[in-house]
Amino acid sequence: MQTVADVIDAASAECRPPSDDVYSLLAPVYDVFAQTIDYDAYASFIRRHEPKDTSAIGLFACGTGRLLATVANRYDIAVGFDRSSAMVSQATARTDAAIVVADLRTCVVQGRFDVITILGNSLAHLAPKNNGPDPLELSFSNVFESLRPGGVLLCDFISPSSVIDGHVMEAIATDDPYQITRTIVTRVTDPDAGGLGPAGRYTYAYKIQDHRTNRTARVSATASIRGYRPTGVLRTALDVGFTEAALVESPPESGDALVARKPK
Ligand SMILES: C[S@@+](CC[C@H](N)C(=O)[O-])C[C@H]1O[C@@H](n2cnc3c(N)ncnc32)[C@H](O)[C@@H]1O
Repeated sequence: MQTVADVIDAASAECRPPSDDVYSLLAPVYDVFAQTIDYDAYASFIRRHEPKDTSAIGLFACGTGRLLATVANRYDIAVGFDRSSAMVSQATARTDAAIVVADLRTCVVQGRFDVITILGNSLAHLAPKNNGPDPLELSFSNVFESLRPGGVLLCDFISPSSVIDGHVMEAIATDDPYQITRTIVTRVTDPDAGGLGPAGRYTYAYKIQDHRTNRTARVSATASIRGYRPTGVLRTALDVGFTEAALVESPPESGDALVARKPK
């Protein structure tokens, strides 16, 4: 398993161009910040909305596997999926559950799951395309195909009011002996991508300080970012075939959530 120290050693100061995807470059650092996320609240959210007698769950965009590790023992089958092999290698070190490197936009596991989740605001990273189907529609359609009849999609998403051009967020996390300061700047490039909401990029700047040696590394990375109008998410779910869909209170992260059921 890669550690924060590996990242520092790989990072000659300011070494990476900002086009690198934050999850491929900085999975261990993401995982340090994820320590403070309340995955028990996500686990309760799943419990509250999953079909009765759920035995198979797919966690799409499972990241470093913290939620998968929290819920896997509840089910006969629990499988994580994520596009980033760096995130998946963190996840495989955390849990014995099966994990697959796969992209939401292309991955179908025909009719296998009672419930599929896309949580932790992962839908925010589906970069809109200029032509062809919207990646949200592709992803929902693939989830629909991967659910058994009566199966349920659970996802959360960021609302348009949280994607503001020029907005800056700063957070600090510690993983002894490191203190990591993360600054995220939002750039909006399309105020209404695909008619669903604003899209652009997050630019992440990390300062990683080792208090034993006073060494400091600085790394930057970017990720596409997208906010969604709740009604647009609801509409997309119905368009791909879900027959029951509702907006519900989200788990602890900021934003809204959707519960959508495939007809029996
Ligand atoms: C904010 S992290 C959330 C991770 C995890 N769900 C959690 O709550 O800790 C977003 C995750 O979505 C993954 N991701 C982004 N786009 C994806 C896609 N198109 N297909 C699959 N995974 C994707 C990233 O690799 C990353 O692991």
